[in-house]
Amino acid sequence: MKINTILSALAAATLVSAGKFHELSTPETTRVVSGGYIVEYHDGIGHNNAHNTLKAKNVDFKIRKQYGIFNGAAISVHSSHSGKDLASMPGVKNVWPITLHSLPKTSKGGKNPTGSVASSLHAMTGVDIVHEKLKLTGKGIKVGVLDSGIDYKHPAFAAKGATEGCFGRWGKNCRVRYGWDFVGDAYDGSSTPEPDSDPMDCEGHGTHVAGIIGANASNIKTESRPPQPFVGVAPEVTLGSYRIFGCDGQSGDDVIMSAMEMAFTDGMDIINMSLGDGSAFKSNPQAVLGDKLVAHGMALIAAAGNDGSQGIWMVSDTGLGDLSSSVASVDNIYASYYTFTYAGVTHPYGSSQAWAVPISLPSSTTLMVILEKDGSLSDGCDPEIYNGINVKGKIVLALGDITRCKSSGRGAFAKKAGAAGMLIQTLPYGIGGLVGNADFPMGSIENRAGLDLLKAYKKNPKSTFTWSKKPSTVRIEGGGAPSDFSSLGLDGELRSKPDISAPGGNILSTYPLAKNGYFVQSGTSMATPYVAGAHALYMQAKGTKAHGDEIRKVFKNTATITKNHGSKTSASVAKQGGGLINVFNALKTTSSISPDHIDLLDTKNLRKTVKITIKNSGKKAETYTLSHIPADALNSYPNKNSFPLNTPLIEADYATVSFSQTKVKIPAGKSAKITLRFKEPKTGSAAHFPIYSGFVIATPMSKGSVPVQVPYTGLKGDVSKVPIMDTDLGFPALKLSNSTADINDIPSEDFVFDMEENNPVILTRVGSHTPNLTIRVFDAKKKFVGFMVNYNTERAIGESGRQTDIDEEGNLSHLKWYWTGRVVPAADAISSVRLPSGTYNIVVASQRKLTKGNYPADYEVFDLGKVRF
Ligand SMILES: *[C@@H]1O[C@H](CO)[C@@H](O)[C@H](O)[C@H]1NC(C)=O
Ligand SMILES: *[C@@H]1O[C@H](CO)[C@@H](O)[C@H](O)[C@H]1NC(C)=O
Ligand SMILES: *[C@@H]1O[C@H](CO)[C@@H](O)[C@H](O)[C@H]1NC(C)=O
Ligand SMILES: *[C@@H]1O[C@H](CO)[C@@H](O)[C@H](O)[C@H]1NC(C)=O
Ligand SMILES: *[C@@H]1O[C@H](CO)[C@@H](O)[C@H](O)[C@H]1NC(C)=O
Repeated sequence: MKINTILSALAAATLVSAGKFHELSTPETTRVVSGGYIVEYHDGIGHNNAHNTLKAKNVDFKIRKQYGIFNGAAISVHSSHSGKDLASMPGVKNVWPITLHSLPKTSKGGKNPTGSVASSLHAMTGVDIVHEKLKLTGKGIKVGVLDSGIDYKHPAFAAKGATEGCFGRWGKNCRVRYGWDFVGDAYDGSSTPEPDSDPMDCEGHGTHVAGIIGANASNIKTESRPPQPFVGVAPEVTLGSYRIFGCDGQSGDDVIMSAMEMAFTDGMDIINMSLGDGSAFKSNPQAVLGDKLVAHGMALIAAAGNDGSQGIWMVSDTGLGDLSSSVASVDNIYASYYTFTYAGVTHPYGSSQAWAVPISLPSSTTLMVILEKDGSLSDGCDPEIYNGINVKGKIVLALGDITRCKSSGRGAFAKKAGAAGMLIQTLPYGIGGLVGNADFPMGSIENRAGLDLLKAYKKNPKSTFTWSKKPSTVRIEGGGAPSDFSSLGLDGELRSKPDISAPGGNILSTYPLAKNGYFVQSGTSMATPYVAGAHALYMQAKGTKAHGDEIRKVFKNTATITKNHGSKTSASVAKQGGGLINVFNALKTTSSISPDHIDLLDTKNLRKTVKITIKNSGKKAETYTLSHIPADALNSYPNKNSFPLNTPLIEADYATVSFSQTKVKIPAGKSAKITLRFKEPKTGSAAHFPIYSGFVIATPMSKGSVPVQVPYTGLKGDVSKVPIMDTDLGFPALKLSNSTADINDIPSEDFVFDMEENNPVILTRVGSHTPNLTIRVFDAKKKFVGFMVNYNTERAIGESGRQTDIDEEGNLSHLKWYWTGRVVPAADAISSVRLPSGTYNIVVASQRKLTKGNYPADYEVFDLGKVRF
């Protein structure tokens, strides 16, 4: 009876709820500003109006930021009102907790790889011809860099004829003309921002990004000259420096949204954002504002993310908007590295970041390989490996497997055993980044170099090393192929993401002068500004404020299809998107295909026929031939596993496509519709849910015309059957937590919790995203009584992206839901209630992908048993 009374009281309360409160889908791991919310009002509700309503409801709050294009504000609440309470107030449309974002981690970097040949970089993308032949430089176009600031004094940002860069709208003709520091040096995301007018960079990231977009380091004569000359994609573009990170790289989304609005007000044509997390959904407040800005004609470009080693469905959520571009990375072909010669063969290497200088050891130094019992090269993570072998004064060769230990750990073991230095063979290819130790020389070498060394050592263990005094430019293993670190799609609704690739591996760019002026870094954070610069060239050439999504289409239509390193087949569209951007082809083409991606969905929802429109905007009639290039399929579930493989198996599961006509003549200025009929791949098991993909290409007959293409993706099998919870490793689970022990074993069925000293804790590990992760509570009569509320008032209801394999500390990623007996009786209830003592059943239920959400038919359901309290 008691429960029923509570329920009816709450049912009444739910009727007044108006807006939507956006729960955090990963409350355990997301950092928030305590008491901070972003509130969006309904259309037509003004700021004053909304604030008066809040005051009338006794909300004690302070305004952190007020927005214009986004109809709302960021506030700090000092009364006990929750986000849900705010959402219930009249005029309020959406409420989000203010979350903190970190500067994306770059995946590799090193002081010692001193450069990459910029000309090779631009030769990969046609930007070299655009510079030379078309003389485009981005002049007159404004790009806003929302980042850690820009070292605007850097000579690579100097105006023509000047030797030093400057900042400001008035006076001298500064390249960095716009900007603002929203935060101050000391800002860490949760501290109070101390804004000022000087957006100088103390971190480095923003200067690196800005350099890729628009540096000119081609002819610097002063001391701070680069290791080799280079220019950014748009070396005369006008930059805006909107500084949202303090020196240690954290920012709240209230600050980021203010910066986005100022960039818009300053007339920036393009901004880039890459703050999302690996997830599959797109309902954060920045994305809401982002869509508004794109609708106003601004281009929004976001990084796909650096979670390439985490398997499918990991594209960063900021780029998931229909109108924005999500950018994947391809490795630069050439880079400048110091080298060593061993047994007559020369190899490039990158010194560890902590060692930071070239390695130089006596020419008598020899090699020692450390081997596991099975004869394979050891990772050096276990100090026992040195028992019984003498590495004194030698250079140890170890395998760069980073799953068991970090480079500093294995370096310390080798040093302790007496080694003079250590070389690490990169997996799977290229030259990986090493952190290492300041007191021990360590270098990272290519995978193929490791194999060579091993062979030479076996032939003659007395071979010695010589170390170069200067760097040289070498072709890097894997150059031109998709970067290993670049995140894989698709998105949560099986739409094709990422959109496009750009060079992001081994990229030389500017760095603050206080930090040596130049730096090589790798990451989709480097590929994103490349695409921003490409937009600037395109906008300059076409002289229009081309809409962001239109430019995305042109770039996707004309990109170069890439292959994985060592492969003869095209890389999956889930890896490369539409291919590697080619700005020259994008400018030259007089043809286009719409839409710019085809989402075939899964077997159940398969779109067997799809219409595409080919447009000929040239001056003459054109005849097009249609063809199909299949790409790699990705199998992430070969073993009935419930957690997708970190490295999906590549399979030749190819769809077939037939065309309503394989040739079509289109008059100048006209378009034609072609019907495509798709058949799923015959190979590939539906039980493995392979993601297949490919490209449909329209090739114009006239000589020199640019072919245009559209990528497609699909999933063979029923996506609603893809496991959501990772059950391989025992999730979800109900455990016992108490004040003396964190998490103990599974409580027995008759264990009585007191909810003060001990609590049930539910562990969930989401292997693939779900539109609705719920933890449901039922009473002894099997009647639903509510959704579980975590101890910190987070509700166990809402969309959830998938988890990475392991967290920063190397522990298995999962969420912990501590239960104190509180539930919300309905998803839109305002407040939670404490259930009376009794026996309850706990059920973890996750909505299956692409379903309507009827419970329980559309859910993956785990009954975790009874809880008594
Ligand atoms: C880059 O700088 C050099 C030296 O100041 C100058 O000669 C050249 O024209 C600049 N290039 C562009 C594209 O602005
Ligand atoms: C701008 O782009 C770079 C490169 O993707 C990224 O690292 C940076 O964080 C972006 N800024 C924002 C606000 O997302
Ligand atoms: C907490 O757990 C430990 C280990 O299972 C147990 O020994 C102890 O009695 C528990 N304490 C309470 C207050 O339940
Ligand atoms: C999750 O499921 C509950 C119960 O069916 C529903 O009320 C709520 O709107 C759903 N949430 C989402 C994000 O679909
Ligand atoms: C990770 O695992 C270690 C060792 O098992 C443990 O001490 C640590 O608390 C764990 N960290 C987290 C965040 O769970």
